[in-house]
Amino acid sequence: MPDHDRHPFLHGLSKHRGAPPTVVVIFGASGDLTARKLVPAIYNLAVDGLLPADFFLIGFGRQPMPDTEFQQVAADAVREFSRREVQEDVWSRLAPRTLYVSGGYDEAAAYGRLSERIATIEKEIGQPLQTLFYISTPPSVFAPIIENLGASGLAARHVGQAHQSKVIIEKPFGKDLASAQSLNRTITAVFEESQVFRIDHYLGKETVQDLLVQRFANAIFEPLWNRNFVDHVQITVSEEVGVGTRAGYYEGSGALRDMMQNHTMQLLALTAMEPPVSLDAESIRNEKVKLLKAIQPLRLDATSGDVARAQYTEGLLGGNAVPGYLQEDGVAETSSTETYAALRLNINNWRWHGVPFYLRSGKRMARRVTEIAIRFKPAPGNIFAESERFQLAANTLAFQIQPDEGMSMILNAKIPGLETRTQPVKMNFKYATTFGSNTPEAYERLVLDAMIGDGTLFIRGDETERSWQLVTPILEHWQEQGRHGLDAYSAGSWGPPSSAALLAANRHTWREP
Ligand code: BG6
Repeated sequence: MPDHDRHPFLHGLSKHRGAPPTVVVIFGASGDLTARKLVPAIYNLAVDGLLPADFFLIGFGRQPMPDTEFQQVAADAVREFSRREVQEDVWSRLAPRTLYVSGGYDEAAAYGRLSERIATIEKEIGQPLQTLFYISTPPSVFAPIIENLGASGLAARHVGQAHQSKVIIEKPFGKDLASAQSLNRTITAVFEESQVFRIDHYLGKETVQDLLVQRFANAIFEPLWNRNFVDHVQITVSEEVGVGTRAGYYEGSGALRDMMQNHTMQLLALTAMEPPVSLDAESIRNEKVKLLKAIQPLRLDATSGDVARAQYTEGLLGGNAVPGYLQEDGVAETSSTETYAALRLNINNWRWHGVPFYLRSGKRMARRVTEIAIRFKPAPGNIFAESERFQLAANTLAFQIQPDEGMSMILNAKIPGLETRTQPVKMNFKYATTFGSNTPEAYERLVLDAMIGDGTLFIRGDETERSWQLVTPILEHWQEQGRHGLDAYSAGSWGPPSSAALLAANRHTWREP
């Protein structure tokens, strides 16, 4: 088998990798994610010729509707949210293959109807279909759906063959360690791990995938990537949006669960893990788990702990006044849900011992940016001792994950002139300038990879449990403390004082990306 067939991640998408004939079944068909991301992703895969010739989409939801109505819902979603204009010839081929089955998520008979529908299509096309279940419902029904897929026999369709059933599970994958373990048990009672695709949409982002290429396809970084040269690492995932209309979900979640346990930890794992022996899913996920296991338990005490949490108060964003978290619709007056979380992590292995990793994520911050910044140690000796003439900055390599995707490196340079004076300068690489800006959305990549059976960009069961194991003691501590120790930051700022203090303890400061 040629290498690129075994390691599709390495060589990117190619039309030759072809998924088998497939039906994607979306549970939660009338949900927001289906309209904003999933249906547009499938449409764009169709535009690129990446769907199998025999491809079907079945929406499954509680609300009864005929196929034609769901086709209209899907058409509207593509028109509103696709990154590319609708091409009528593409949509007119996909539309009649877009079907709908209604039923309750815990109604056994509904799974029977779904099963019959799939069997009928197979009979019509004269071929077996791979069934890819996409569970995009509220988490309270994840378990009943999986159990019913098991009981109805749908999970076991074509078992043992390349086109055996597969399941994609949306976040949140549990709300603490115990619930994540319980969900994993429910899943593995029905599916093999190789059939399971746990979503973290950050892994589908182009720049996140590029992290591996930058780290392991460029020989210059590896010798520097350790405690001898790196002073500390900062990972920022900031958003301008507030809680919006999602208070119902967010009140029970907060920044630690919503962004830190999953997206931010994944960025950390890819940044700090050891080189994998190859680029297949298991090798990469083994290294990520190893790294997560090397993270030391966090200290929680108020004065010298490794954690900070805060809520936004009213402030100015883009010149507009915005309300504080407690004034948002659906938020309890006494809510202690954190909209900002910061962690200081120590990784106890040979590479990183003694190098602090700082992670922060918050809503209603000054700017939307996801960035990984590697701050290097100063040059030894002091022949350019800091003075008026010698303005020096620490060398910093920053991966700008989004928006304005790129990489930059801060170096010190001589200012042209007869006098020797220095100034920090920035070397910049922008994806948009080099590659253009119409890149595939994360969900396109992820849906296609699951269809092909490549789990590289998905979270393995043990990986999610390890990261819950790290954050669960923090969640429990915060729960006990209620609003006590909860800091505040003005909307539109870069975060609370307690977060700055986490770095100040080591004489570090947060970057303003
Ligand atoms: C989701 C969180 O997982 O990620 C949201 O639930 C957050 O609260 C979103 O806004 C951010 O994703 P992106 O791709 O816009 O950075």
